Amino acid sequence: MTVSAQNTTPAASAAENASANAAATSEPDGSVVLEGVTKKFGGAVAVDNISLHVRPGEFLSLLGPSGCGKTTTLRMLAGFEEPTSGSIRISGQDVVGIPPHKRNVNTVFQAYALFPHMSVAENVAYGLRQKGTPKSEIRERVTESLDLVQMRSFADRKPTQLSGGQQQRIALARALINRPAVLLLDEPLGALDRQLREEMQIELKLLQSRLGITFIFVTHDQGEALSMSDRIAIMRKGRIEQLDDADSIYDSPASAYVAGFIGQQNFLPGMITNDLQVMESPFGVLRSTSTHPELEAGVDAQAAVRPEAVTVSAITDTGAATTPTADNRISGKVLGVSHQGETLQFLISIGDSQTLMSRLPRPSAPRLAVGDAVMCTWDAASVHFFPSEQATQAQADIARAVSHPAPPTSSISL
Ligand SMILES: Nc1ncnc2c1ncn2[C@@H]1O[C@H](COP(=O)(O)OP(=O)(O)OP(=O)(O)O)[C@@H](O)[C@H]1O
Ligand SMILES: [Mg+2]
Repeated sequence: MTVSAQNTTPAASAAENASANAAATSEPDGSVVLEGVTKKFGGAVAVDNISLHVRPGEFLSLLGPSGCGKTTTLRMLAGFEEPTSGSIRISGQDVVGIPPHKRNVNTVFQAYALFPHMSVAENVAYGLRQKGTPKSEIRERVTESLDLVQMRSFADRKPTQLSGGQQQRIALARALINRPAVLLLDEPLGALDRQLREEMQIELKLLQSRLGITFIFVTHDQGEALSMSDRIAIMRKGRIEQLDDADSIYDSPASAYVAGFIGQQNFLPGMITNDLQVMESPFGVLRSTSTHPELEAGVDAQAAVRPEAVTVSAITDTGAATTPTADNRISGKVLGVSHQGETLQFLISIGDSQTLMSRLPRPSAPRLAVGDAVMCTWDAASVHFFPSEQATQAQADIARAVSHPAPPTSSISL
């Protein structure tokens, strides 16, 4: 599959931009503001009252499962769809009703091909040619753009003579040739294999930092979003569930959905006590350093604990006798051990139908076998409590998202 850019800026000259911006608000170049944006297709709501402020020069990812409204949001920014209601401003300019080629944005899609009959240089030059830019200037800017993605020596090749990653770079060069204030990227690395994808993630991030262009990056790959973004908007059913930097999203998830969607979680049921940071569970007392605004004493809740926060140690006869009882300690039996490269993963039975997952770096992980009696412990800081219903619904939605991954982007003609 090929990856390419769609040029959406050619008509916007510097003079046009300046006059448009003069009439607009004082929001700086490269800022993107959505306020109360909704998009309906017929009766179906694809994007549901989203408000989002993207800072100039920011790398912001829209992350969420298939069908949550990521592409629709991006298409409204690019001008390929108009919102049903709400306002959108780019660099302070109200862009609703303005056609794509007059917006100071470019888009890189996964599914659009480069022109196969044109050389790499001709593909990159396409937008400038359409605008009637003088030949000498085109030559200079194509060279500059190919240099940005380290592809100058490939200028005379056809796209079919390039690897997926190289085609991807050409798509980027084509999108960047007009130096848009904002670059929109819709799963641009989706077609690449894992190793190339990881290399391209680093390259893209470096390129973005160097150019200072605002990137709005759509992905359903959490690792990709975590590794590249200044901030991540976690989307679910047309809404933004949390907008934060990677650390905050990982360490302080605002909802059970965010907690479970980013990384993995063990969910343990129980009831909140008078101390809202303490939960009684059938497995013991669980303590957190935080509480949830909707939780009060006596309410059913679920505690979320990440596998990598759970430490496991073998219970020896002497050890068991001398271990003081404390919160966040649950005993169990090893059900399985799996090797995952740098980590060892343990599945532990802690009750008739309850298991706990632990994932530990291999050098420090204990050598345990199936059937061993173990003690699982973790810090209160790594426990988050959520209302029980919210946690159950979140787990069901996440399971559905995992069992119905994003469909392939190629279209089927019947
Ligand atoms: N042109 C359209 N007409 C009708 N419904 C649409 C249209 N485009 C998108 N939708 C619907 O809007 C919802 C959001 O779609 P969107 O393409 O934005 O999802 P997405 O988050 O990009 O998903 P994916 O990860 O699969 O690409 C989906 O339910 C989709 O079926
Ligand atoms: Mg999409």
